[in-house]
Amino acid sequence: MDAPTAVVLMGVAGSGKSHVGRLLAEALGARFVEGDAYHSDENRARMQAAIPLTDADRAPWLSALAAALQQARVTRERVVLSCSALRRAYRDVLRAGNRAAQFVWLHADAETLRARLLSRADHYMPAALLDSQLATLEVPTADEQVWQIDARMDAAGIVDAVQQRLGHGSTQ
Ligand SMILES: Nc1ncnc2c1ncn2[C@@H]1O[C@H](COP(=O)(O)OP(=O)(O)OP(=O)(O)O)[C@@H](O)[C@H]1O
Ligand SMILES: [Mg+2]
Repeated sequence: MDAPTAVVLMGVAGSGKSHVGRLLAEALGARFVEGDAYHSDENRARMQAAIPLTDADRAPWLSALAAALQQARVTRERVVLSCSALRRAYRDVLRAGNRAAQFVWLHADAETLRARLLSRADHYMPAALLDSQLATLEVPTADEQVWQIDARMDAAGIVDAVQQRLGHGSTQ
């Protein structure tokens, strides 16, 4: 099987999408696309104020990310995208941009996530939003073929696990 050229790291705040995404992109020789960078100033202000985003708030953001995935598909560029992709409908929007994108769900318990968010400085996503993110999350169903990875591993371990599944493992 050809390795997918796009990997989407999904999960709630604190799961490590940005941190691991950067390292994974480096390991794969891919471009890292920070999903948060595509948020409007309005959305960023809402999150900063711990106001959960609605579907309407997220729609233009998801469309922009789908367009970025589509562009990468057309140019055959390898990309790693960080995007919470909490709901099935959001993932469907992204898949419309690139049906072959491989989603990887970084999964951890609420206490681990909360501790990480509380220790993270200078980030607009407050720990107060974690509960609403966990409530919004629609666990991927089997037909979505999302890979679930234990986000409590250290970042290098997660990168290695994803690489192994992609068939690019350093030990293969
Ligand atoms: N596997 C890991 N082990 C230990 N610490 C981690 C791990 N992954 C991320 N972290 C740390 O946890 C914090 C949250 O990680 P990060 O910012 O990557 O999460 P995120 O999923 O991108 O969150 P957001 O949705 O708010 O952007 C950071 O301080 C990061 O350094
Ligand atoms: Mg992030």
